[in-house]
Amino acid sequence: MQPIDKQSDIIPSVTIVDAMISDSAGGSASNGTDENTCLQNIDFRQYLTAAEIKAIEHDVTIMGSREAAGIEALKVVQQHRGWISDHSLCAIAQCLEISSAQLEGVATFYNLIYRQPVGHYVIHLCDSISCHLCGYDDILHTIKQHLGIEYGQTTADGEFTLLSNACLGNCDKSPAMMINDHHYHSLTSSSVVAILNGLSQHVEPADDR
Ligand code: FES
Repeated sequence: MQPIDKQSDIIPSVTIVDAMISDSAGGSASNGTDENTCLQNIDFRQYLTAAEIKAIEHDVTIMGSREAAGIEALKVVQQHRGWISDHSLCAIAQCLEISSAQLEGVATFYNLIYRQPVGHYVIHLCDSISCHLCGYDDILHTIKQHLGIEYGQTTADGEFTLLSNACLGNCDKSPAMMINDHHYHSLTSSSVVAILNGLSQHVEPADDR
């Protein structure tokens, strides 16, 4: 994930994303996008890059309708910019010819769409029942201690954001977490520290473990 933007979508040194963890899925937060503001201030052709528009139009073709391409379009822009700002959401909605409120609903429902800035690595720690029974508390404590952040916060260097997540589907190998799109399971405090230290050195995992 490479947080970039041609406007103000920049990761601050420490970001509190409380709204993210207030959502039961642990993800998206609304910035209170105003439909009228969108219509007055955003021209998606000026705001979105040619590559983003091309990718969105490709997804529209694949999905069969502009409305159905909402989640894929959000993913496209997030992949380029790291998160979905209000301006990004409005521009995407215009591109798809749907209302920003409708797209906001999609973004809020899908917990891997970030409506606030996040770090380079986003940790989704499973807080569902199997993981709770198999050491979740120790893993959470280790992550908080090692990174010095709480749920919904990003480290000062912009590297890690910590979020809670519902079941990740690795219940037979709990406790589990996902960092960006990589799953980790059978976690111990020492393995978590090793994983975080590796990622701090930008050593990407070769396989699920
Ligand atoms: S309960 Fe944690 S992966 Fe299912």
